[in-house]
Amino acid sequence: MTNGLFEKQVAIVTGAGVGIGYAIAEQLALGGASVLLNDVDAHVAGEAAGQIQAAGGICEAFAGDVSNLDTVQAMVDAAVARYGRLDMLVCNAGLTVWGDFFAYTPDMFDRVVSLNLRGTYFLTQAAARQMRAQGDGGRILFMSSVTGHQAVPYLSVYSMSKAGLEMLAKNLVIELSPYHVTVNCIAPGATTTPRNLSDDPNYDAVWGRVTPTGKVSKPLDMAQAALFFLSPAASQVTGQTLVVDGGWSAISPSPSLDFVEKPE
Ligand SMILES: NC(=O)c1ccc[n+]([C@@H]2O[C@H](COP(=O)([O-])OP(=O)(O)OC[C@H]3O[C@@H](n4cnc5c(N)ncnc54)[C@H](O)[C@@H]3O)[C@@H](O)[C@H]2O)c1
Repeated sequence: MTNGLFEKQVAIVTGAGVGIGYAIAEQLALGGASVLLNDVDAHVAGEAAGQIQAAGGICEAFAGDVSNLDTVQAMVDAAVARYGRLDMLVCNAGLTVWGDFFAYTPDMFDRVVSLNLRGTYFLTQAAARQMRAQGDGGRILFMSSVTGHQAVPYLSVYSMSKAGLEMLAKNLVIELSPYHVTVNCIAPGATTTPRNLSDDPNYDAVWGRVTPTGKVSKPLDMAQAALFFLSPAASQVTGQTLVVDGGWSAISPSPSLDFVEKPE
């Protein structure tokens, strides 16, 4: 069953075998879009596409590494060959490599930047060329992070890459608006995904305690935000970032402020 909002539209979602990307791919397919679902892990991509098909969605797996520039062009070509066009690109695949600044190596740096920035940049270029050639607009969405706004220990390169994506979205407003292609970002806060739960089985409780709403986000929270940016309702919204973090980034650490009278 689909709700029809994205009927006859074609989307690519990267890093969509699990987590946030999967939720976006699933919601788009439920909305009637034809989805090319990418993941670097071929087995995971196939399983995910199969689940969406089983739920009645139009979806096909595309296994490949977004940091490989031949792969990103092949991904756009595959969407067009399979579904005839491309309307939406969701650059969700991103790599987090934690590390102390003094110990960070060029190899760690290159792995993060070659996916989060270089791969995203050239996939966007390939997709935008296709949208420009079609002549009837398009939607591009980057997955940033609250860490692109607020400093978090041991995430210097990841944070820098996410802030870079938000600036890229603003820059592309200049070059893609004449073609009616919008470019926006979502900046998730702590979100329950298999990766986070394998890093820390107490992830939900640990981050829920420091999130004003008292809970971590779910992948569906990001998908709901994505659906807005990708929908016809957002045709005048471009170059923007929506932070979806339960209020986490609204708070900065403060001293005890003992001079302020407090309620008993
Ligand atoms: N989960 C969070 O708390 C959180 C918070 C802020 C931002 N984000 C961002 O959201 C996005 C998705 O995060 P997540 O936690 O859902 O994903 P994740 O890290 O669990 O990965 C999702 C999928 O991406 C695939 N993938 C990894 N490298 C890839 C590559 N080079 N090419 C193609 N696929 C690749 C993985 O195989 C995996 O199946 C990322 O860009 C991440 O930086 C996540």
